[in-house]
Amino acid sequence: MNHLIDIKNLKNEEILEIIELAKYYEKHVPEGTQRKKQKGSVVLLFFENSTRTRFSFEMASRKLGLDVFNFEAQNSSISKGEGVFDTLNNLNAIGCDIAIIRHTKEGFIEELARKHYAYELSLVNAGEGKSSHPTQALLDFYTLTKHLGSLDGKKIVIVGDITHSRVAKSNIELLSRFGAKIVCCSPDYFKDSTLKHIKYEFDINTALKDADAVMGLRIQKERLENQIPLANYIKDYQINEKNMPKNAILMHPGPVNRDVEISSALLDTKGDVIIEQPRNGVFVRMAVLDIIFEGVQR
Ligand code: NCD
Repeated sequence: MNHLIDIKNLKNEEILEIIELAKYYEKHVPEGTQRKKQKGSVVLLFFENSTRTRFSFEMASRKLGLDVFNFEAQNSSISKGEGVFDTLNNLNAIGCDIAIIRHTKEGFIEELARKHYAYELSLVNAGEGKSSHPTQALLDFYTLTKHLGSLDGKKIVIVGDITHSRVAKSNIELLSRFGAKIVCCSPDYFKDSTLKHIKYEFDINTALKDADAVMGLRIQKERLENQIPLANYIKDYQINEKNMPKNAILMHPGPVNRDVEISSALLDTKGDVIIEQPRNGVFVRMAVLDIIFEGVQR
C-alpha cells in the first residue's frame, strides 16, 4: 500500500490486515522505538506567536531523543469549537506526555492542570498572558550567573514595558529570591502597580548607574489598550551607546525592535548576550523536560 487516501480504495482483506497489525502493535513495541516510547512525546501548543521559545523547546526535545509534535490551532478541531482541555485530553490519549503551552490568558494553564486527564499529562508554561514565563526566567538566571557569578547584591535594571511583560514578572520573582537588587525603569504608563516591593526609577540615567545587568523589554503592542507616545518613549527610555554602563551586560528576551527599546548601534556592538540567551534556553529547557520525564518514567 503506497497511500491511504480513502476507504473505498481498500479491499476487505486489506482492512482486516491493518486491524491485525494494530492489535499486534498495541501489545508489542518495535525494537527501534523502544527508547523513544520510554522517553515519551512532547506536543507544542502555541496560541501566540513565538520564535525563540518554540524552537528552543523543540530543539531541547529532539536533543533528549523525544518525539516532538507541533499543534497548529488553526488546522485543528479547535477551529471546530473544541476547547483546549478536550484537545489536550485527546492528545494525551494519543500518546503525548508533555504539553508545552503558550496562551494569552493569565491563569489558563493552571486551570488546565487542575482538570482530570485520562492518562498522565504534564503541562509546561511557555509564556502566559502578561503574568508568567517561567522558562524564560530560568534561562535568564542561567545566563546572568554565567556572566556575573552569584547574584547576591547585583543590580539588575529592567527597562521598558513592565506592565505587559510576563518576562519581567517571572524574572523579578526568581532573581529577587537569589539576592539580586532589581530596579524597574519605565515611564509611568508602563509602571506596574501590582509590583509592591520593587524599586522604580523613572530616569533612565539614574536607573542604569552602576548596573551589573540591563534587561530591555519589548513594547507589547498586542497587549496595549492605548497608544503610547513612541517618539518620546524612544527619546527618554531607549537603551543606547550613551546611557549603557560599560561594564554591564545587555540582555533582552527577544524579539528586539531595533531602534525602539535598544539602539541598533548598541545591539550590534554589545548584543552578544542577547544571542546567548536563546542558546542557553535550549539547555535549560532540556533540563526542565528531563526532570519532568524522570517523573513520568518512575
Ligand atoms: C517574550 C515573550 O513571549 O514573552 N519572548 C520570548 O519568549 N523570548 C518577550 C516578548 O515577546 O516581547
